Amino acid sequence: MSEGGRFTGKVVLISGGASGIGAAAAALFVAEGARVVLGDLQIEKGAALAASLGERALFVSLDVTSEASWRAAVAQSQAKFGPLTTVVNSAGISVPASIEDETLEGFRRTLSINLDGTFLGCKVAVEALKSGKGGAIVNIASTLGARSGAIFPAYSASKGGVRLLTRSVALHCAARGYDIRVNAILPGAIHTEMVEGYIAAGQAAGATREQVIEGFASGHPLKRLGRPQEAAAAILFLASDEAAFITGADLPVDGGFLA
Ligand SMILES: NC(=O)c1ccc[n+]([C@@H]2O[C@H](COP(=O)([O-])OP(=O)(O)OC[C@H]3O[C@@H](n4cnc5c(N)ncnc54)[C@H](O)[C@@H]3O)[C@@H](O)[C@H]2O)c1
Repeated sequence: MSEGGRFTGKVVLISGGASGIGAAAAALFVAEGARVVLGDLQIEKGAALAASLGERALFVSLDVTSEASWRAAVAQSQAKFGPLTTVVNSAGISVPASIEDETLEGFRRTLSINLDGTFLGCKVAVEALKSGKGGAIVNIASTLGARSGAIFPAYSASKGGVRLLTRSVALHCAARGYDIRVNAILPGAIHTEMVEGYIAAGQAAGATREQVIEGFASGHPLKRLGRPQEAAAAILFLASDEAAFITGADLPVDGGFLA
């Protein structure tokens, strides 16, 4: 679909767009008529995905921890497709380690990518969207930003931060009268490369692949992992005009995990 989709005329920049939830969102946005820019550290993978999505997709190299990199990505997006309307902050990492095992360096790395990266993404997005046609920002927090676990001090701190960062940016945009809505989704376990990393770690510790997957699934009332497209569908909803009266919200996409 190129004409008449929900996102025809929209220009979407997605950090972490080369993989997982960001990649699934890119494909859905393109299918719904948007022009989409995928920003990621994974250059080959991101470029191949953008090529497969056709002429309404572009890959740009992006390191979300660098303000200069964000500014270059926005400039490339606008040069190719015109004013941005939508920014999705999906880049993130998860490296499980308890408070006794985590290092300050590791903690800071997680915070730098997940929280600083989303802060910078929001900062450049507000600047770009307010001088264009307004629009929407969607951040990817996590159920682990609402509940935690013993091995997630860094990840939960980062994602709890993303939830409240989202609300603050939403309130600022509302107070200033910018036509910019800012929301987050809270995914449960979604079967992406991130979860494949957990599966590999579980296998290294002696569990079978099936046991690790079952362990994740059993924590979710719907008794399965989520699919990247299911998280992406929630991102598109929050980015769409259907969500015109929704700002500062966080939407669980978690098979009932937080219920
Ligand atoms: N998969 C899950 O179960 C799950 C659950 C809750 C939240 N999330 C969040 O969803 C988002 C997407 O994760 P995913 O599951 O799709 O993982 P993924 O590993 O498939 O994708 C993450 C992408 O972020 C990119 N990235 C990492 N550091 C970056 C940096 N500094 N600059 C630019 N890009 C960078 C990676 O290269 C990768 O392409 C993350 O923020 C993650 O924390 C995932």
